[in-house]
Amino acid sequence: MGDTNASSQRREVTLERLWDKLQAYGSGDWYPYHMPGHKRNGWGALPPELAKLDITEIDGFDNLHQPEDLIKRLQQQAAVICGAEESFYLVNGSSCGVLAAISAAVPQGGKLLMARNCHKSAYHAVYLRGLEAEYLYPNLLPDYDICDAITPEQVKEALLRDPSVSAVLIVSPTYEGRIADVQGIAQVVHSYGIPLIVDEAHGAHLNFAQYFAEYRLTNSNLAGADLVVQSTHKTLPALTQTALLHVNGRIIRRDRLRRFLQIYQTSSPSYPLMASIDNCLSYTAQYGREPFRQFEARFLKLLQELESLQKLRILRGDDRQDIGKLVISVRGTNCNGKQLYERLLQQYHLQPEMAAETYCLAMFTVGDRQEGYDRMRDALLETDRQLESCREFETERENLPFVKASNRVIGLAKAWDSKVEWRYPEECQGCVSGGFVSLYPPGIPLLVPGEKIEEEHIKAINRWLTMGLSVTGIRMEEEHCSLAVLV
Ligand SMILES: Cc1ncc(COP(=O)(O)O)c(C=O)c1O
Repeated sequence: MGDTNASSQRREVTLERLWDKLQAYGSGDWYPYHMPGHKRNGWGALPPELAKLDITEIDGFDNLHQPEDLIKRLQQQAAVICGAEESFYLVNGSSCGVLAAISAAVPQGGKLLMARNCHKSAYHAVYLRGLEAEYLYPNLLPDYDICDAITPEQVKEALLRDPSVSAVLIVSPTYEGRIADVQGIAQVVHSYGIPLIVDEAHGAHLNFAQYFAEYRLTNSNLAGADLVVQSTHKTLPALTQTALLHVNGRIIRRDRLRRFLQIYQTSSPSYPLMASIDNCLSYTAQYGREPFRQFEARFLKLLQELESLQKLRILRGDDRQDIGKLVISVRGTNCNGKQLYERLLQQYHLQPEMAAETYCLAMFTVGDRQEGYDRMRDALLETDRQLESCREFETERENLPFVKASNRVIGLAKAWDSKVEWRYPEECQGCVSGGFVSLYPPGIPLLVPGEKIEEEHIKAINRWLTMGLSVTGIRMEEEHCSLAVLV
């Protein structure tokens, strides 16, 4: 971020803070003849301190769906901080940002070029708007069963093959922290006169990349994306459900974007959630340099301390690996990702973010204390000493099916509305999937409605279930699993 932005940031953060205004209002003598029904009083286990701050669009507090005063100024400030032309507060998470971005960028029934490792909200937009989806398939990182970021070359090739798409959607950083060359991709996409949407749900901290010393990262607004969705609640200290949608350039019609935000966001936005976005951005812009420096130093030190691991492996930072995502690979050991996850949870009381077949993911942010680094380090070093190397297990593994071209029989929107029946996996080979099947988290679909179910899908589902991983979109009755297939 340039100096001009930095100095306007310093000016802007002197604005009235929403938390302060809520606090002051809650302590005043205004009587609420309006919603919410708790009337700012505690009720049962609802803490009065929380109820006191929980108001709706009353006088003096503006309206998220038609901001003219306080919320307008807060959103303008968010745009300055995040390097965007215009920013919107989201209280329904990045999910509603992804829905609104795709809906605004692609006409009803149009075509979207999207990364296959997108979050389910992108697939939901495809369904709701009756879109045709073409996929960009991420490469697997060598030695790790992890999707890499989409590259400009992959986008170029796909657009050459089919230039009729209305927009391109990628995820960066990915759940595991792989960062795309967004600048390179934006150049390719813009040469076709179409917009680039970046699902940067895992990258809100990149708004403050100027605070990292070692990382030459930038957010996707500054890299040239037209629409950028960020979950403030994922990688910044903000309350769950809070997020931002940013828009840049002239390709996206802003009136359409606003319309879809009104459709997908609640008509009763939570003021504590909005205050939490305001607090997170303004406080970080003003006081974030030192906490971010400490975060970076602690994370790098942890990586260094884990260099002595003999069997577990940590995905090491190259310049495309984000700060804060600790990907612990169990490949080559006698345990799987879920067993490591359970061990960290049960034995050490460390709650990881997720488990996959061959790795476990722990997240660190600017909100962590030193204790979080120390406890993870000690647990991993001790676990590593107790594990055994195991070559055999490694050779049994198959590639993840969703990084290979899927066999689409009918479009997602039509398939998801079709009649289905539930069958045991062994009876599904060659059938057309009637639903989404995903490992959750991260919720990237293994199967999308309308895709042919292949042997490798069935094997993957069986392996995941045997390992105790959480699979969504299936039906479990006693010990038996079944899948929805089109009839
Ligand atoms: C890549 C990606 N995009 C979007 C979302 C949705 O974010 P939210 O939970 O803020 O709605 C997620 C959630 O995990 C995600 O991983």
